[in-house]
Amino acid sequence: MGLSMEKRDELYAGKAKSVYTTDNADQLIMVFRDDTSAFDGKKKEALARKGAVNNQFNAAIMDKLKAAGIPCHFERLLSPTEALVKKLDMIPVECVVRNISAGSICRRLGVEEGLDLTPPTFEFFLKNDELGDPMVNDYHIRSFGWATDEQVARMKELTFQVNDVLKQLFLDGGMLLVDYKLEFGVFNGEVLLGDEFSPDGCRLWDKDTREKLDKDRFRQGLGGVVEAYEEVGRRLGMTFEY
Ligand code: ADP
Ligand code: TMP
Repeated sequence: MGLSMEKRDELYAGKAKSVYTTDNADQLIMVFRDDTSAFDGKKKEALARKGAVNNQFNAAIMDKLKAAGIPCHFERLLSPTEALVKKLDMIPVECVVRNISAGSICRRLGVEEGLDLTPPTFEFFLKNDELGDPMVNDYHIRSFGWATDEQVARMKELTFQVNDVLKQLFLDGGMLLVDYKLEFGVFNGEVLLGDEFSPDGCRLWDKDTREKLDKDRFRQGLGGVVEAYEEVGRRLGMTFEY
């Protein structure tokens, strides 16, 4: 799977992935581990095959997004659990689009799960586990210098473009894209989509039964977590190597 590329120093070990430098200063290797985390790291478990499934799932999604003209850090798969990416200066916010109410918006606004949100809504969260990833707005991002006005506008534009591409892709597989989180970074002055898109960072429901096929299975202790991720991939025509 792909040409060889050596890992050098571990740059960062996150909750689910580790990031390594390479001999190329512009490229990193992302290793998708089986570690699964929820509630800002308060619930943790290693789930067999999850790293491989998420790495290959993310690769397939990033290829689709690139084909749709969305600039992404993803370069190529290196192994079942490793991918080569462009090294970004990460913007420390998470961009969330919601098509249907679920998760934190239900708690914050006292609304029931499953409401259609038309138009879809957008939220920024600061990436900070100790603070529980608080919601922030454009003004916080500007005042604290986390990103420029242009970068804020670009992150919103790209996040909604991703929605157009992926809502349809999942619908074609009989699934509803409820919500998702994206992270962006800067490479040579350009805002690129970074990190990953996998069932760890989005909500996907079966279109007819509304069965949960994403990390809510882990958050809510429903079981069959990786099996659900594999089912999502299967419905999109993906095959996984372990
Ligand atoms: P977390 O930091 O939330 O625990 P992960 O375990 O997924 O998350 O760790 C991956 C880390 O790598 C994240 O902090 C993410 O922001 C960062 N990252 C993702 N893509 C890139 C990239 N292309 N360049 C530099 N850092 C990246
Ligand atoms: P939320 O309902 O908890 O705010 O999450 C909205 C979506 O964003 C959901 O699909 C999960 C994803 N998400 C992450 O992947 N990581 C995070 O740190 C946060 C806050 C959300």
